[in-house]
Amino acid sequence: MEKVAPAQSGIDQRKADHIRINLEQDVRSALTSGLERYHFVHEALPELDLESVDASLTVFGKRLAAPILISSMTGGTEEAGEINRRLAEAAQECGVAMGIGSQRAALEDSKQIPTFAIARKAAPDILLFANLGAVQLNYGYTIEHCRRAVDMIQADALILHLNPLQEAVQASGDTNFAGLAKKIEGICKKLETPVIVKEVGWGISERTAKILADCGVSAIDVAGAGGTSWSQVEMHRAPDEFTRQLAATFVGWGIPTADSILNVKKAAPDMTLFASGGLKDGLDIAKCLALGATLGGMAGQFLKAAAVSTEKAVEMVKLTKRQIEVAMFSAGVEKLESLKVEKS
Ligand SMILES: Cc1cc2nc3c(=O)[nH]c(=O)nc-3n(C[C@H](O)[C@H](O)[C@H](O)COP(=O)(O)O)c2cc1C
Repeated sequence: MEKVAPAQSGIDQRKADHIRINLEQDVRSALTSGLERYHFVHEALPELDLESVDASLTVFGKRLAAPILISSMTGGTEEAGEINRRLAEAAQECGVAMGIGSQRAALEDSKQIPTFAIARKAAPDILLFANLGAVQLNYGYTIEHCRRAVDMIQADALILHLNPLQEAVQASGDTNFAGLAKKIEGICKKLETPVIVKEVGWGISERTAKILADCGVSAIDVAGAGGTSWSQVEMHRAPDEFTRQLAATFVGWGIPTADSILNVKKAAPDMTLFASGGLKDGLDIAKCLALGATLGGMAGQFLKAAAVSTEKAVEMVKLTKRQIEVAMFSAGVEKLESLKVEKS
């Protein structure tokens, strides 16, 4: 099987660590996504032809074959560039959306631009999201940095990620999150493309959803608890015992994805909502849609497939799409907007 080349050293180390730890260690949250608390009512007589079930949709003006998002992950090393290429090839072939990882590495070292730009090169037609840490707006980043991130990959929208806990459990994280809402609002007003705000695996509360809606964001990706736990990733990177123990404390922290979707629905009923965090398959994506999401995203799972090959990533997207279609068929539903779940 095709192998990903080993990462370089030096400034690439952090990005390389993230990929290695996510592939080799158990970094799952102690919580579940909460989606196991919901089920579809089985319809033995769906009165549908499976082939007439339609999982396609339009998001930000782009047509998607299925409501699947390959969540923001990587870039910034040769190995990460190869993973972005494989993920983008899979997204292009299957007609689904994709986010790339934080582009800070490329804004600070232009040699890294190709490791992100490869995504658009390999996937000229997909719905593609740029990515920056929102907290960087408190550390010198301006609208110009946001524009450069979008232009670098001809992105359809910019994702600003919120990761206060991840920064707080690192040895020297960027922990000044004060006054950030005002800055996010400024970016929403000035940026030419839509702004999406996401968490990275601890979810969105009603209060945060309300603030983000007031900032004028175009969509929220809840990235709730139940899957990849970034405090666990940081625990494995910790340089000393103090930091390791600090990070380990938070293995059960966060708002499960299912609860997080309901939080956003309650606080901002008209908000476009993406769901991610601990989604296992297309059935989980279908449940998220029934709860009010437009797209369902997976990160860790797609990383594992892309680390093997493009073909493996394509296979996984195809399986995920078919799982959504079979869930729709067996629930007697022809269109995504008709999906409904019951609490178990
Ligand atoms: C290797 C890796 C790198 C990630 N890097 C980023 C990032 O740069 N920006 C971001 O917004 N989220 C990042 N994430 C978080 C994911 O987009 C997602 O929110 C989170 O992993 C929860 O999804 P999961 O449980 O399906 O993995 C990363 C996740 C993984 C696994």
